[in-house]
Amino acid sequence: MNRGLFITFEGIDGAGKSSHIARLADALRGAGREVVLTREPGGTPLAETLRELLLHQPMDALTEVLLAFAARRDHLRQVIGPALAKGCVVLCDRFTDATFAYQGAGRGLDGALLSYMERVAQTGIAQNDDLMLDPDMTLWFDLPPAVAAARLADARAPDRFESQPQAFFSRVAQGYADRAAQAPQRMFRIDAALEREQVAEQMLAAVAARGWLSADSHG
Ligand code: TYD
Repeated sequence: MNRGLFITFEGIDGAGKSSHIARLADALRGAGREVVLTREPGGTPLAETLRELLLHQPMDALTEVLLAFAARRDHLRQVIGPALAKGCVVLCDRFTDATFAYQGAGRGLDGALLSYMERVAQTGIAQNDDLMLDPDMTLWFDLPPAVAAARLADARAPDRFESQPQAFFSRVAQGYADRAAQAPQRMFRIDAALEREQVAEQMLAAVAARGWLSADSHG
């Protein structure tokens, strides 16, 4: 199967990742790749409906995680899996690392439970495929929670996560650091405290180092 590339973007709220995703999409298109831009929770009508609930309705941590994985499975089956099968590059704003960071480290849910759910929700996406679908690369925008809070201060009305206290984001940031330590090949840390242009350079250099920005890097 001519499988494409699956690249995810992570970081605490306010880390500034979103503005860099379009930049990477342009660079990949410049290298001749077909790019699909998407986000989690979301990316399908069902998953966008679940996103609205997750971000705005009161619920406990286990309900959050059930909704996040339900949205993810629909997204994988309807959008991500088919796009990868066609050979596209899928750029996804957040994925399962966010569940480990927010619901695991942030809300205190057991990591073993999340690992089990990850395996169940991300397996059997493509036909005859009993492997767990995992990103090829994750760009982790790492920023101290105090800096992120200052950047978010002027933003639009906060959702259920953005309105959490800084201590929550300290746990989430630690959750990302722990995930990165467990998957150092997949997760690439970007120092998001630098100037925007330098942040973009780190991101583009990391992707180029894998050979994915060369015009001849794919069939
Ligand atoms: P975010 O990606 O930051 O979008 P926006 O830039 O529009 O605010 O918002 C998604 C929020 O959902 C973010 O606070 C993290 C949270 N989230 C989880 O708690 N668990 C998850 O599994 C995912 C994917 C996101």
